[in-house]
Amino acid sequence: MKIIGVLTSGGDAPGMNACIRGVVRTALANDILTIGIKRGYTGLISGDTQLLTSRSVGGIARWGGTILQTARCPEFRTPAGFKKALDMVDELAIDGLVVAGGDGSLRGALELHKAGIKCVGVPVSIDNDISFTDMSIGVDTAMNTIINAIDKIKDTASSHQRAFFIEVMGRRSGYLAAATGIAGGAELVISPENPVNIDELLSIMARIHERGKPHFIVVIAEGASPNAHELVEALHCSGHPGFEARLTVLGHVQRGGTPSAYDRILASRLGDAAVKALIEGQSGVMIGMMNGKTISTPLEKVLAKERPVDEDMLSLIDTISL
Ligand code: ADP
Ligand code: F6P
Repeated sequence: MKIIGVLTSGGDAPGMNACIRGVVRTALANDILTIGIKRGYTGLISGDTQLLTSRSVGGIARWGGTILQTARCPEFRTPAGFKKALDMVDELAIDGLVVAGGDGSLRGALELHKAGIKCVGVPVSIDNDISFTDMSIGVDTAMNTIINAIDKIKDTASSHQRAFFIEVMGRRSGYLAAATGIAGGAELVISPENPVNIDELLSIMARIHERGKPHFIVVIAEGASPNAHELVEALHCSGHPGFEARLTVLGHVQRGGTPSAYDRILASRLGDAAVKALIEGQSGVMIGMMNGKTISTPLEKVLAKERPVDEDMLSLIDTISL
């Protein structure tokens, strides 16, 4: 193996840069050159690349975002676009490719593998919706961003005796909502796995009010149905029993910012292990971290397994939020 490519794809997440650095430095330690592919599969199609040297990745582990930039690339999913990507791998003389991204990006990596490209995936997504890794790169930082916001909102909620609905990201997953609901001391977590209708909400709210709590903090996943907007609208129509309600949508602040120590370490280890897997001749696998060890799992298996939020986490919230 003489030349590898690395790309970051899908939603950016803190730790992508530490992963790129891990890939480049481990490749160099094994006399392999790394070509950085810009804007995910978009750059693979157009050949937008740059040689990554040890110096060009110096100091980047502490930066959020991705120096290679990222993209969602519908063209890659067309036969013509996919063919262009395959041809570009040939043209660039890339012997192996590291794809760092979420489940969509990993599906793309699997397609490349099936077409004969040596390809290893690394899970990156604040959603923590990818199986066969305890955590994806970016989750820890996003959780810390969210609990900082919850702590601040709690001050206002308590001072005004309000209900705050804090909408967090996660796409179809409720992991971020459940984890930050526990860490942030929310009264209620609403997620796709744990939906709540308006009647249930009114009775929970009344119970919390009767207990003399000064606030009612609800962390709600963006994928929940009914969603945060619908529930808050319904509360307006019901006259806000107990607490006046406000909605805060955290949005993309959750994806940016300085990666936590945990994310930098995770990303460095997964980047390093991905290159080692390519050197060993592995392909069509994802490198995850389970029980403190890096593990390699076939992408087909990873992508076939749903990752619902742990039941224990959901029941813990019920117990400790009272
Ligand atoms: P993420 O990787 O964060 O989940 P997306 O789902 O948007 O983000 O996927 C990123 C890119 O991966 C897409 O724009 C597309 O180019 C590629 N991709 C997604 N799903 C597939 C698929 N089923 N087959 C091939 N490529 C895919
Ligand atoms: O997958 C990461 C994520 O931030 C999801 O939580 C969210 O639903 C989605 O990406 C938002 O995507 P975009 O930045 O394209 O609006």
